[in-house]
Amino acid sequence: MHYQFANRMNHLEGSALRENAKKNMEAKDVISFAYGYPSIDAFPMDTLRTISERMYTEFDPETFLQYGPSEGLPELRKLVKKRIEEQAAIDSDDEVMIVSGSTQAMDLVIKVLCNEGDIVLCEEQTFSGAVNAIKSYGAIPVAVPMNVSEECLDLGALEEILANDSQHRIKLLYLIPTFQNPLGTSIPLEKRKEIYALAKKYGILIFEDDPYGDLLYFGDPIPKMKSFDTDELVIYAGSFSKILAPSTRLGFVMAPQPIFEKLVLAKQVSDSHTNFYWQVLLTEFMENYHFETHVNYLKELYREKLTVMLAELAKLPSEAIRYIEPTGGYFICCELSDEVDEEAFLDYLFDHKVIVIPGNVMSVAGKGYEKFFRMNFTKPSVEEIQLGIQQMNEAIEYARKAQISKAI
Ligand SMILES: Cc1ncc(COP(=O)(O)O)c(C=O)c1O
Repeated sequence: MHYQFANRMNHLEGSALRENAKKNMEAKDVISFAYGYPSIDAFPMDTLRTISERMYTEFDPETFLQYGPSEGLPELRKLVKKRIEEQAAIDSDDEVMIVSGSTQAMDLVIKVLCNEGDIVLCEEQTFSGAVNAIKSYGAIPVAVPMNVSEECLDLGALEEILANDSQHRIKLLYLIPTFQNPLGTSIPLEKRKEIYALAKKYGILIFEDDPYGDLLYFGDPIPKMKSFDTDELVIYAGSFSKILAPSTRLGFVMAPQPIFEKLVLAKQVSDSHTNFYWQVLLTEFMENYHFETHVNYLKELYREKLTVMLAELAKLPSEAIRYIEPTGGYFICCELSDEVDEEAFLDYLFDHKVIVIPGNVMSVAGKGYEKFFRMNFTKPSVEEIQLGIQQMNEAIEYARKAQISKAI
């Protein structure tokens, strides 16, 4: 049989991240800095077990085994809204919908806003899941150049792109302003305001994707773009994947009312509602089991790992590798200098069972970022971080020699 698929599938490729993750889950003795996974020490097993047992013995099954509203469990929506107000200083009239991971928030937003051929602007290095969501509706992700050392988009380039959009094809600016994936950077407040002003001037919406925002390890938090959204331009999404467990698939989206209503319709078509078992469990956790103490524990756990990774990276030759020190989140992104042959570097690491994500995998164009690679510091143990970065030192040595022989 010759199957004929819909045009929208033409631009989609399997996620290199997911494919590699499958293989590496089976591989032994691998030190993986590759995936954005939480530590296994991060899962609050006792609390989850206690609440689950109570649900099955004390709760009415109707409350967690029955169909429910598409917007999500009303108590959880209230708790999430309150949490965003308290933790992220977002004071907005927008409603919160519980979604199946913030991945679904992106999918629904593109579904309700973009026609085929519409443009979504993205940071040039960004979350590949978002790029795929955009492509899956025939919309076009367009990279805005970054000024990595300033931890921001190149605002001149952004304005030029917006000003040249005479046919008004640009619908949305997709941003990860806080602890960016893959860069680990955070857009400074002044720049956030300038981006917001540009969005307002040119009449485009902003999708503020914030799955890492809770995980601040050093310094002060930077206000979210949603916190100064006086003109209802910002759709704000968050996730419990990084602060509870990814398998719960619990995320949320907050959007101005007219968009919110369309998102609810789109959600009804996609999956009716997000898994109620986990919604009820999280509600209990947030109401009665010190959820914020758990998040603070995670911050301690990951602050230590980040500190170790930075200390190890500082031992590498600074003329060969550079990086921006993140103040939170899950990732550090490194850039190799011209004196290091990137292929030889990655080959050496691979042969020595150390895995990182090459820069091109996390870029809109899929090329041009050969010198970059992303490292996760939350999943590996402290010992793995130390050993893996020692291997990196040797990989640099090896790849410098390879670069010299190439040049001869
Ligand atoms: C920037 C960004 N957005 C969204 C997601 C997806 O999160 P979720 O598990 O909530 O779907 C990720 C996951 O790695 C991410 O890095």
